[in-house]
Formats: sequence, structure tokens, C-alpha cells
Amino acid sequence: VFRNKLEFFAAAKISSSFPPPTIPEIAFAGISNVGKSSLLNALTRQWGVVRTSDKPGHTQTINFFKLASKLCLVDLPGYGFAYAKDEVKEAWEELVKEYVSTRVGLQRVCLLIDTKWGMKPRDRELIDLMEKSQTPYQIVLTKTDIVFPIDVARRAMQIQEDLKKNKSAVNPVMMVSSKSGAGVRSLRTVLATLARF
Ligand code: GTP
Ligand code: MG
Repeated sequence: VFRNKLEFFAAAKISSSFPPPTIPEIAFAGISNVGKSSLLNALTRQWGVVRTSDKPGHTQTINFFKLASKLCLVDLPGYGFAYAKDEVKEAWEELVKEYVSTRVGLQRVCLLIDTKWGMKPRDRELIDLMEKSQTPYQIVLTKTDIVFPIDVARRAMQIQEDLKKNKSAVNPVMMVSSKSGAGVRSLRTVLATLARF
């Protein structure tokens, strides 16, 4: 499914402008700058369709992309330290929360966590919400290229242990680097099983 052409088809700032849910959907969530947009590029090997940036808070709307009519990939705005006014930040967070807890057809949320920094309170907030709404989510550790392999493994074990009582957490914790490409193929394989055939 990831060989199909990636097409941008909608951007939403409010929930009433979400496109109708017609195909299976996978969303990418996480703190600002964690590497959501970069991972979308790496997974689809189509650079330039999803925009990335050094500046945190780059993605400011919920962006919907599709791979033919088989799978919809959703780039969520990051929460946390955006260069934006507080009201704007809060509005994004509310939008992300509403999206992950109510979206029909949402098969999985990939919750990206920076390998070096681990889980933050905001990540836990989102996890609690997804537990409540029974939204299946999967932890994806990012930027593994800048951390020693032993520390990557340690981080993964720590998170797996942390979440072992959580019902909606899908195992195992995945580890990727969009830069080196490590782990991207495994994640692609896992996510491809959610597509419509
Ligand atoms: P927002 O849209 O602001 O929420 O950020 P984002 O999560 O979409 O992050 P984005 O993909 O734009 O990447 C942020 C920065 O991290 C960019 O400078 C990327 O080049 C860098 N980055 C992303 N993935 C990796 C990675 O695997 N390794 C390294 N070393 N840097 C990465
Ligand atoms: Mg982004």
C-alpha cells in the first residue's frame, strides 16, 4: 500500500472540516518536533508531499493524505513548545484530542516519542484519553540515530513496562530513524496490515 502515490486531500482547523471517514486511517501524534512529518515522508518514500521543519510547531492543521483509496495517513499538529500564542496552542491541542477520541475509522494512532527524552506529561495525557476512548495506539520511538543502541533498547523496555496495564496500547514499541531509515520498513509492514485491500 505504501507504494501508492501519496496525495494531500484535506486540512482541518476545526472538527467540522474533517473529511468524511471513508477509508481506514492512521494518525501520527506527538510533541512538536518529534519527527511526525519526517516519518510520514520516510514511510511513503515520497519526500516533499508532507512538509517538515526545524522550527517546532510547523504543522498547524490536521492534514489528511491518502494512498490511493486504501489508507489515509494523518499528520497531526504537535503539542508542546510551539512558537505560537497560548490560545492557538490550546486550540490545536483540543483539536488533536477531539480527533483521537472521536474519529470514526481511525485504526491506529502512532504516538511518537523522542528516544532521547522519553515520555512527557502531555504524552501521558493523550494516552489516558485514548485509553478512555479505546483508540488503539502504538508507541514509536523516533530519532534513534542520535542515541546509542543500548539506550534505545532501554527506552523501549521502560515504556513497554510503563504501559503494560494499558488496554489500548498495541505492542511492541517500534523504533525508527527517518534519517537513517532504521526500523522504517518494520513499521511500514505493521501499518500496511491496517489498509483496505
Ligand atoms: P511539528 O510539525 O512541529 O509538530 O514537528 P514534527 O513532529 O512534524 O517534526 P518534523 O518531522 O518536522 O521534524 C522536526 C525536526 O527533527 C527536523 O529538523 C527533522 O529534520 C528532525 N528529524 C526528524 N526525524 C529525524 C530522525 O530520525 N533523526 C534525526 N537526527 N532528526 C530527525
Ligand atoms: Mg509536522
